Amino acid sequence: MKPEYIFFAPMEGITTKTFRRVYSQFYRGIDRYYSPFIAVTSDMAFKRRDKRGVLPHEEKLVPQLLANDADAFVWAAIRLADEGYEEINLNAGCPMGTVVSKGKGAGLLKDMEAFDRFLDRIFSHEGLPGISIKTRAGFYNTDEAEGIAGILARYPFCEVIIHPRAREDFYDGTPDREAFDIITSKLNCTVCYNGDLYTPESVQDLINERPGIKRIMLGRGLLIDPSLAEKIRYDEDAKDGNDVKDDEDAKDGKAVLYSFLTCLESEYKSEMASDRNVLFKMKEIWSYLGRNFLDHEKSLKVIRKCTSMSQYELAVKEILR
Ligand SMILES: Cc1cc2nc3c(=O)[nH]c(=O)nc-3n(C[C@H](O)[C@H](O)[C@H](O)COP(=O)(O)O)c2cc1C
Repeated sequence: MKPEYIFFAPMEGITTKTFRRVYSQFYRGIDRYYSPFIAVTSDMAFKRRDKRGVLPHEEKLVPQLLANDADAFVWAAIRLADEGYEEINLNAGCPMGTVVSKGKGAGLLKDMEAFDRFLDRIFSHEGLPGISIKTRAGFYNTDEAEGIAGILARYPFCEVIIHPRAREDFYDGTPDREAFDIITSKLNCTVCYNGDLYTPESVQDLINERPGIKRIMLGRGLLIDPSLAEKIRYDEDAKDGNDVKDDEDAKDGKAVLYSFLTCLESEYKSEMASDRNVLFKMKEIWSYLGRNFLDHEKSLKVIRKCTSMSQYELAVKEILR
């Protein structure tokens, strides 16, 4: 069994507009992308950079907002709906201290009564686009899942995406799938599972265990292996034991990855002020991709330490030749 929908998770600083455009030229299998969070505050204005990230309207994109001010959220949601977006996502998962301390992201889950009031105020507005939420399963721990579910169930979300860790877990430990079940059992809307899906086999295991899961969101798994969604979707014979074919697939995979990275680098070069910034971006991507190429320890080390684009490009050629 395969998931019916596969979404690309929002990843601040990585899944930029440029990244999404280049990625979709080389890889298939993604039904929807979620934008990295756009912080909205009571001054009701988008920062220029954030605006450029989601405007003009991008097909398959769901903009994500980070807010704890309901009026600001509603203002931004309606503004984005005017631009053609039919769904806006609320971030209730970001664990960063600077975000949580302002009661945003996963900080929304710290005070359940305030969270309830916030949602009540949002949903009391008319004329909103579809509102989805990407939530964790708790602030301190996932025992809070039931309480969170009780609140979410009161509002007409078009979708709830659950990353079943608590804020305090950040990205450590294992996602608590029982907490996912608890939240899911209380909701009437569509739900999506997110967390630690790194291989087609891990997706298969999840769906075998929980056949009700029709939608998955992939994050780091797609950075480690950008062809992960394609493999999940289209590989009928991923494990057919045909070594010659597997070798050819691996060569093709490297060639596509090389083209993808070259194109991404060139796009970043055309829009960034200095090669230093481009190098930083590409190194960040390699901090995930590199996990697939651990046998190229020396070249990976070069990528980590390189100070020029030419060093970087040589190391990439060495790994992907
Ligand atoms: C570098 C990085 C940036 C992220 N930025 C966002 C973000 O802007 N909004 C959001 O909802 N989640 C963000 N996340 C969380 C991911 O969307 C996802 O929920 C998390 O990585 C778990 O899924 P995974 O195990 O498939 O990676 C970020 C995660 C990482 C690693």
